[in-house]
Amino acid sequence: MKYTLGIDVGTSGTKTVLFDTNGRKIASHTIEYPMYQPKNGWAEQEPADWWNAVQGTIKETVTKSGVDKADIVGIGISGQMHGLVMLDADNNVLRPSIIWCDQRTGEECEDIERLVGKKRLIEITANPALTGFTASKIMWVKKHEPEVYAKCAHILLPKDYIRLMLTGEYATEVSDASGMQLLDVPGRCWSDEVLEKLGIDKNLLGKVYESPEVTGYVTAEAAESCALAVGTPVVGGAGDNAAAAVGEGVVADGRAFTTIGTSGVVFAHTDDIQIDPEGRVHTFCCAVPGAWHLMGVTQAAGLSLRWLRDTVCTEEMAEAAEKGVDPYVIMDAEAEASPIGANRLLYMPYLMGERTPHLDPDCRGAFVGLSAMHTRGDMVRAVMEGVSYSLKDCLGILEGMGAVPESMRICGGGGKSAFWRKMLADVYGVPVQTIESDEGPALGVAILAMVGAGIYPTVKEACDAIVRVKDTTEAETENTAEYAKFYGIYTKLYGHLKADFKALAAL
Ligand code: XUL
Repeated sequence: MKYTLGIDVGTSGTKTVLFDTNGRKIASHTIEYPMYQPKNGWAEQEPADWWNAVQGTIKETVTKSGVDKADIVGIGISGQMHGLVMLDADNNVLRPSIIWCDQRTGEECEDIERLVGKKRLIEITANPALTGFTASKIMWVKKHEPEVYAKCAHILLPKDYIRLMLTGEYATEVSDASGMQLLDVPGRCWSDEVLEKLGIDKNLLGKVYESPEVTGYVTAEAAESCALAVGTPVVGGAGDNAAAAVGEGVVADGRAFTTIGTSGVVFAHTDDIQIDPEGRVHTFCCAVPGAWHLMGVTQAAGLSLRWLRDTVCTEEMAEAAEKGVDPYVIMDAEAEASPIGANRLLYMPYLMGERTPHLDPDCRGAFVGLSAMHTRGDMVRAVMEGVSYSLKDCLGILEGMGAVPESMRICGGGGKSAFWRKMLADVYGVPVQTIESDEGPALGVAILAMVGAGIYPTVKEACDAIVRVKDTTEAETENTAEYAKFYGIYTKLYGHLKADFKALAAL
């Protein structure tokens, strides 16, 4: 039997999973690390933490699997998108990585739109200038830390830094590169025009591949530290969402999925490129060569519930520790005891600003309608509902662009909750499906590695052979109608508060 490894360099931790060529999970391991928030709206991580976690998880996974490392025929890397890793000429990390959810670059986005022209920027990069994307982070370092920028010899995305450590190659692939805002997304190559107008040297960037292509081979040094065979091929892989799409089998028109991870994503595949002229949803190259995807993003999806758990649900945490269960199981049960609408409590999930549909780095979260009668269960339910409404905002825009899915696959930590899946099916008004594997991005890039190793001829054929639907949660019409009443009010709240968020941010 042959095997491939999928590595997912996430925001809360790195997970490595070993699969056989039928997509069956053999072993896995996760190592967590912190996110630093030195200022309100800032978010940074240490690339050394990612690399330590990658080495530790590969070693542990391969060792406990008992598989002969010579039978591992490929490695795929996935990870959080958009993060800026800057290296000097000797590959030393120059500063902590400014990651995807950092919101410090509002001014730089204005600079980018001025330099490139808003319309031209959308034509080339398929997206408006966004604080989450890498280009504005590069411009921020250029402006605020010129001494760091002067030393910068290489710019890489988080997972591509891991590729460098594994293979010694400076490379990326189209799906993740799309989120840098330096790629010609229709043409699937770096945009000389954007780079020139922003004054960024193309030599700082790695070579761009398609996702299933082999980009390099494991070096002797990495083989030693990760317990791998020297020369194991590493394919392009994909940004976490494009990777999850492969793992969920969303690789053809009409297919879509929702992720509830730290962020939340609604993703639809498209064989023909489509761009929202208002830029409310992203258009990126996808991991299927020659195809694209549309994607709406809720910045703080699972992050909202984690925040509530850590700040408010201390009793639930203590009870969970005593019973030896996950605190989210207890929080789910409390939320389920609250009715649809959480006893008239609404939550806006904008803890880290928002992308879809508002494109506003300054908005923040809010509970609206708090009463002395509300319990923690109501608050938990309101948070889950608010995140679901925000995901419905994303779906509405994709549907308006013609991507109308018949059903929605779901993955990410939030997708593990049967209660949240039912809520989402009811809020969307479409059936929600899970697939047999819950390894989304790690499985996706392991599949890409199988294609790279020649085990399957195409990504679609690999997915058809490997990805199976496990269960379907139907929407109930009465519930959909009940949620619609609250959603109608939710959609008005941002407009009422927008100016106040701006004023608060300016203090
Ligand atoms: C996508 C995005 C997030 C990150 C974090 O544009 O910013 O989904 O990839 O996982």
